[in-house]
Amino acid sequence: MRRGAGAPNNRKGGSLSFFSDLDGRVVGGPSILAADFANLAEDVRKARDGGAGFVHFDAMDNHYVPNLSIGPPVAASLVPATDLPVDAHLMVDNPDNLIPMFLDAGVTSISVHPEAVTHLHCVLETIRAGGAEAGVALNPTTPPETIEWALPYLDFILVLTVNPGFGGQAFIPEMTRKIRRLREMTGLPIAVDGGITAETAPLVVEAGARVLVAGSAVYRGDPATEMRKIIEAGQRAAGG
Ligand code: DX5
Ligand code: ZN
Repeated sequence: MRRGAGAPNNRKGGSLSFFSDLDGRVVGGPSILAADFANLAEDVRKARDGGAGFVHFDAMDNHYVPNLSIGPPVAASLVPATDLPVDAHLMVDNPDNLIPMFLDAGVTSISVHPEAVTHLHCVLETIRAGGAEAGVALNPTTPPETIEWALPYLDFILVLTVNPGFGGQAFIPEMTRKIRRLREMTGLPIAVDGGITAETAPLVVEAGARVLVAGSAVYRGDPATEMRKIIEAGQRAAGG
């Protein structure tokens, strides 16, 4: 699995190392699963007005998760329509075929679920070789130790604080213990995804997460206001 030589790449300079450059800062971004797909660029702009530092792009295949969402063509349209880094979360079985397409679309990071991948090392190396940051997404009952030997090939870890597949689910409180365990294992940035609100953001930040993905909590109201509330709640919990 290799990207074709000279394949077009929309990725913009300056946003290639979003996770690696965080330096302990708390950042938030919208999960566009909860946005209006007929007005996607505008909905991303609204979250950006509220201080969003990235866009979280959920791809689902109706196999790995029981839902179907968006894929590379939408990513290719969204990347040039925003100056925010676009982070692709692949909830798909065997993402090998899709990764080169997401790289060509210009996303700046890609996370995969270890259960959905046959050769994790190879997949992570492919993501990095394509110029994006590589992440692993951990389901609620997937042990942190699963990725112990993958840590050198990772740029971030995405802790699923709900079961993947749908927005609007309730945050699973036990996941704060998993974040703490991961914090003991590694200094890699920890992102959280699922049920993140201004109320749950402080819990995950206190546990060690720094990247807050929020879908329904952002788009259920005025996206700029709601995005800002979540980011500020997280930043307060980090003491900044
Ligand atoms: C869950 C997705 C999430 C989802 C989060 O499968 O990975 O990104 O959109 O939505 P909320 O914030 O509503 O839980
Ligand atoms: Zn997600």
